[in-house]
Amino acid sequence: MADIVESREVSALIAELSTVVGREEPYGHYARLREIGAVVRADDGTLIVTRWTECAAVARDHRLGKMPVELLAHAGLADWAEHPALYGYFTSLLGINPPDHTRLRRLVSSSFTARRVQALRPATERMIDDLIDVMAGRSSSDFVEAFAFPLPCNVISELLGIPAADRAQFQHLVSDWSAVLDDITPEVLSKANPAAKAVREYLAALATERRRQPREDLMSALVGHEEAGDRLTEDELLTMAGLLFAAGFETTTNLLSNGLVALLEHPEQRPALFADPAAAVQELLRYDSPVQNIDRTALEATTIAGVTFQPGDRIVAYTGSANRDPRRFSEPDRLDLKRADNASLAFGGGMHYCLGAPMARLEAEIAFPRLFERLPGLRLAPGAARRDSLTIRGYDALPVQN
Ligand code: HEM
Repeated sequence: MADIVESREVSALIAELSTVVGREEPYGHYARLREIGAVVRADDGTLIVTRWTECAAVARDHRLGKMPVELLAHAGLADWAEHPALYGYFTSLLGINPPDHTRLRRLVSSSFTARRVQALRPATERMIDDLIDVMAGRSSSDFVEAFAFPLPCNVISELLGIPAADRAQFQHLVSDWSAVLDDITPEVLSKANPAAKAVREYLAALATERRRQPREDLMSALVGHEEAGDRLTEDELLTMAGLLFAAGFETTTNLLSNGLVALLEHPEQRPALFADPAAAVQELLRYDSPVQNIDRTALEATTIAGVTFQPGDRIVAYTGSANRDPRRFSEPDRLDLKRADNASLAFGGGMHYCLGAPMARLEAEIAFPRLFERLPGLRLAPGAARRDSLTIRGYDALPVQN
């Protein structure tokens, strides 16, 4: 049996990852944690894996699931269902286990199809050009505000059927809501709850409208969809739409920002981006992943890397570290858009594998070549503000000049 490593160094490394400096540059800390051991224990008892093999196993092993709601009370969250921000998360696909997960994922997958995403290509191209037109008319912009937020927000809104005039309000709402992914404190909840409630109320009104008058959008498909006599209840529908909506731009915004920074810091890679945008985006996702970790709870005793997780153990897989593990990738800290074997854990793995991966890829594959084609002088300007989160890696502001 292998040991779970607990030490002062482990505690210090994990604590530093939550500081401004650690969030700016977590990769050195990850490297040290990977060396220290396959499984380490944080001061709060969480078990952390940072190497590729163990992170992939944690993501894929069905004996490790999402924290069953009965255990939330032990985690100090007995009143979770009364907090809209937690209710919308813990009852969504991201928070549940089979058989509920299997049923809900089947119901949404048959409406949110690859064909539906591909059908968005022309609209996505138009939206990208419109946003670049605005950037081209100014000498400097905040890339997050001008491009990285509105693009995915517009694309997921287009898919769901949210009218253009209503979209801008959602950036702060979803950002406040998703803060619960990092830390559930009374202060975080005081902003997250009203935000989650506002998003849900908006989607409820949209669902009512589409029930009355269906259109071609995903909301109409979700309200009308029935499979083998089964359909989403109103509560499930609103939770699902809320998850798709929030997940639809919260993460993709950061793929666009992190990817832009990586591409601007490596101008020699520009030809490879134009030659194969799909491979380039795959490498950008590996190199600086927008989602840096995923969490699981042991549902039964499970042995990984010679360590047995006991039922109820909370496990966090640092996928952002796994994607830089030299055991899996040669020269992992080097951005190489032509890397042959670059499939990463950026979208997770197993039954919770990201449902929106084709959509995020579509946006980034069109966006990056188009940005550099139309704004060849694009460069970073001072004043970048990193997002205050270890789970979601990205920027709140990213000033650029043309
Ligand atoms: C670059 C962009 C994105 C990244 C890096 C990303 C990452 C992830 C990751 C790591 C997971 C797995 C979480 C876990 O295992 O606990 C996940 C799940 C999910 N993602 Fe994404 N995502 C992205 C974009 C999107 C988009 C555009 C959508 C929706 C339109 C979306 C919808 C979802 C949903 C619904 C799940 C839950 C699936 C389930 O639990 O069965 N994501 N995503």
